Amino acid sequence: MKKILLMHGANLNILGKRDPKHYGNVTLFDIEKITKEEAKKFEYDVITYQSNCEGKLIDTLQAETPHCKGIIINPGAFTHYSYALYDALLDTQLPIVEVHLSAIHSREKWRSHSVTAPAAIQVIWGKKEIGYKDAVRVLVEYIQKC
Ligand code: DQA
Repeated sequence: MKKILLMHGANLNILGKRDPKHYGNVTLFDIEKITKEEAKKFEYDVITYQSNCEGKLIDTLQAETPHCKGIIINPGAFTHYSYALYDALLDTQLPIVEVHLSAIHSREKWRSHSVTAPAAIQVIWGKKEIGYKDAVRVLVEYIQKC
């Protein structure tokens, strides 16, 4: 089965305990399940990975992406400053969809800027967990066109 890597960065392991106004009530497990179910409809398998460590995310991108067709990533706060993660994403040469649960453009000013977004074919934000279903569809459509 073709594979998608679903990656989450800092603090997303405690979803369900974070501010529901921004992130909803879902846990990371729920999000992974929703994403897997959506991907299954298109006959894709989802590999999941979360870390609070930038280097571990990069190591995993390097190790896993040679076996994957695309990436869905919510880098958490790394979004806003990790040029190392941006480079690692670019180096995969895979189509990437960046997802944010919250409305990053309506919060603190620094959240509006994503340094990782230029590596992505699309950024989906502010749709809470539904954004991940959209991300699967965007990614699969893109992969099928190429
Ligand atoms: C987030 C938005 C980031 O600004 C924040 O640091 C997160 C989560 C989101 O999903 O809305 O941890 O990526």
